Amino acid sequence: MKKIDVVASATIFESVSELPSNVQELMEKAIEARKKAYAPYSKFNVGVALLLENNEIVLGNNQENAAYPSGMCAERVAIWKAGSDYPGVKVKQLVITASSSNSKVDKPVGPCGACRQTLSEYEINQKEPIEIYFMGEVGNIVKTDSLLSLLPFSFDRSYL
Ligand code: THU
Repeated sequence: MKKIDVVASATIFESVSELPSNVQELMEKAIEARKKAYAPYSKFNVGVALLLENNEIVLGNNQENAAYPSGMCAERVAIWKAGSDYPGVKVKQLVITASSSNSKVDKPVGPCGACRQTLSEYEINQKEPIEIYFMGEVGNIVKTDSLLSLLPFSFDRSYL
């Protein structure tokens, strides 16, 4: 038996003004998308902005449903919009923000496990890492240099 270390590294920004200027712009668009989320049940709004290699920006937000499991997270709405409208075009950066009408979200909100799995398929296919930036409504922003760094021991087509 041996133990191994599984290490993920991240960069923490203390405010949006510390982000690279194009990421600040993506964050503004993610905030606009967040405000349009359809989240009447959880009251938890998530907005995403994706930058593609052709410089298109694709937005997404969570879309809930009275039959709760039929809703969808913002990240998957956005990546599937990108995959649908721009098949094969690489995703460079993905920016996430979340807010709630129940309380101020002051911790960074990373993508859920199912979204990480979905996003990993795109990152693997494009053979280039996707930079992920995520925050709440206020507070620190976390950046990871790739999606797979958020998903160690991931499942992929090699198992099939
Ligand atoms: N949600 C997202 O949109 N992205 C995540 O990564 C976490 C959760 C949404 C799903 C649901 O509409 C609400 O947030 C509460 O879980």
